[in-house]
Amino acid sequence: MAPGTLTLDLGTSPDLEIAPMSTLLVTGARGNIGSRVVDRLAKSGARIRVLLRQPGTPAIDRPSVEIIRGSYDDTAAVSAAMAGVSRALFITAGPELARHDGALGAAAKSAGVEHIVKLSVLGADRGGSEIPSWHRDGEQRIAATGLATTFLRPGSFASNARGWAATLRAAGKAFGALGAAALPVIHPDDIADVAVAALTQSGHAGKAYEITGPEPLTAADQIAILGEVAGRRFEYVNVDDDTAVRGMIDGGMPRAMADAMIHLIQALRAAGRLPPTELVPQLLGRPARTFRQWAIDNAALFQGKAAP
Ligand SMILES: NC(=O)c1ccc[n+]([C@@H]2O[C@H](COP(=O)([O-])OP(=O)(O)OC[C@H]3O[C@@H](n4cnc5c(N)ncnc54)[C@H](OP(=O)(O)O)[C@@H]3O)[C@@H](O)[C@H]2O)c1
Repeated sequence: MAPGTLTLDLGTSPDLEIAPMSTLLVTGARGNIGSRVVDRLAKSGARIRVLLRQPGTPAIDRPSVEIIRGSYDDTAAVSAAMAGVSRALFITAGPELARHDGALGAAAKSAGVEHIVKLSVLGADRGGSEIPSWHRDGEQRIAATGLATTFLRPGSFASNARGWAATLRAAGKAFGALGAAALPVIHPDDIADVAVAALTQSGHAGKAYEITGPEPLTAADQIAILGEVAGRRFEYVNVDDDTAVRGMIDGGMPRAMADAMIHLIQALRAAGRLPPTELVPQLLGRPARTFRQWAIDNAALFQGKAAP
């Protein structure tokens, strides 16, 4: 370990090295991946700053975390968030994500940030349907700053199964349009561990990591595992694309996002079985967490009847 560094022990992961005076910025810190990254960094003694457009959460509200309030469209807040930062994690989402990546990247460049880590998506280098295309555009805007970059390109998150919880609890059924697509879904804790490694270790500049879980699973496979863990018989019901889009919109998703989701689902169905990559074990020095592990970690979501 280089002199003058702090050690961050992620349990099964190798020790990580961070310069003690450097400030790390985490955007999207209230979300699924960002909150896990903040939690890990906070245990390291690192100086952490977050950029939030809403009040913090218990994971964020701690003395070691400095909060800047504002959205990615708030130029002054974004500039304030970047000041004095050495490395930053960009988590952007939705149809405006490339524009937000560009705005965050420009502010990082002006502030002298050294290294940007971006949460992207598997297939962003190829584009295709809307979501990988948005991320490809975002990656290109960040790369155009000339700063050191690491692009994390995860496959589908295991935690997408949260969307099945209400109907599984209520009726033992989950609905979707994934058909026979078999996806090596990745545990969000593994994405967070890789993000922390990229933010705190040397050797990740100029890299794009296509990270996945360990085995391709269909939606029906995942539902069966959730049922085994919950001690109930669960069933996956495939629906047509129009029904799936209506369900997403009824659940509160904006039309543009629902259209993007169904186009991604169509591409995943056409791909059939996506093989896992070996990057999580290579980067973290241990096996990738399984979907069963995610199901065990979140068993309470799938047990009992839904609240009325
Ligand atoms: N789900 C998957 O299977 C999958 C797979 C591969 C890649 N991805 C990518 O992963 C990313 C999502 O990660 P996640 O699950 O951690 O997301 P998440 O839980 O939805 O969190 C996103 C965070 O970004 C913040 N945010 C969004 N727009 C903002 C804005 N204009 N100003 C300030 N903050 C803003 C949100 O703030 P608020 O808390 O205020 O809402 C939220 O905290 C997306 O880019 C997605 O394409 C997802």
